[in-house]
Amino acid sequence: MADIFGQLNQIRAEIQSAAPGSPAELEQFRIQYLGSKNILKGLFAEMKNVPNERKKEFGQIMNELKDSAEAKFALLKEKFEADADSGAGENIDLFAPGEPMQIGSIHPISMVMNKIIGIFERIGFTVVDGPEIETDWYNFTAMNTPEDHPARDMQDTFYLKGGMEWLLRTHTSPVQARIMEGGNLPIRIIAPGRVYRNETISTRSHCQFHQIEGLYIDENVSFADLKQTLFYFAKEMFGASEIRLRPSFFPFTEPSAEMDIWLGTDTEKNYRLTKGTGWLEILGCGMVDPKVLENCGIDAERYTGFAFGMGIERQALRLFEIGDIRLLFENDVRFLSQFKGAI
Ligand code: DAH
Repeated sequence: MADIFGQLNQIRAEIQSAAPGSPAELEQFRIQYLGSKNILKGLFAEMKNVPNERKKEFGQIMNELKDSAEAKFALLKEKFEADADSGAGENIDLFAPGEPMQIGSIHPISMVMNKIIGIFERIGFTVVDGPEIETDWYNFTAMNTPEDHPARDMQDTFYLKGGMEWLLRTHTSPVQARIMEGGNLPIRIIAPGRVYRNETISTRSHCQFHQIEGLYIDENVSFADLKQTLFYFAKEMFGASEIRLRPSFFPFTEPSAEMDIWLGTDTEKNYRLTKGTGWLEILGCGMVDPKVLENCGIDAERYTGFAFGMGIERQALRLFEIGDIRLLFENDVRFLSQFKGAI
């Protein structure tokens, strides 16, 4: 009998001196004194052996022990949680050198775009922007590509929900229509941006890429102006010594042409790039079709103009000698960081 009160005293001392130093030790403490099979519960079975006049005292001590175990548990639990939040208790070396800061680099596509923009800005072109979600009107109809026109087959289009009216622009040419419609003449703009085509035919093709559009409209703008402007661009951009304009077709220009630059075939790389011809195709261009001017409310008797459009990705591949176009879209920093300060 004296024994059981002795045991209670011992448990009291144990609870008081217990000092769980970690959440795991605290859990041990909880199991021992508060868990479903805790040590106090076991002692309750001894109640029947306690003489009646001491039963009350026994009960009180048992309650007191339970309360003190609960209080200690609650206090330590709070402490460990606060420590976890503040990171205290971890080994922090305040004098360790910091992580070096990684400075990003400009994406090669942006570099090429910026370079092209700079070249045209120097001769008075202004950069303008247009929406990537376009209407059928600006993307096709205003650009002289009516619904039944075979040229619409040239571009597989992503149409948006709700019919054929809204789409992702398939080229930057609709920006031409938007600017012309504004009616502020003369116009001398370039419009860089993303375009979209539904090209799932090959693993190498991409549904999203970049173009830059150019448009120049004034009185007396001639094909000679187009040629000279593009030659200037080819020299500045590629150091080209010669360009060639091949007749071509685009619905929004008449006459239309494609411009090649002369690279020659002296190096293996140029031989490969030009497929042995020495010429590399860079862009499409032409004199703005009078029908387009009229669609956009410009007097085609008084004004003429030229336009051109080019893809960016292939130029980036050529400029940086990148072997696979997919690298431009994967955003792998090991690849991208190689272009720091490249141009
Ligand atoms: N929009 C044409 C394309 O995506 C490129 C183009 C050709 C733009 C001739 C022009 C142009 O402005 O005059 O293939």
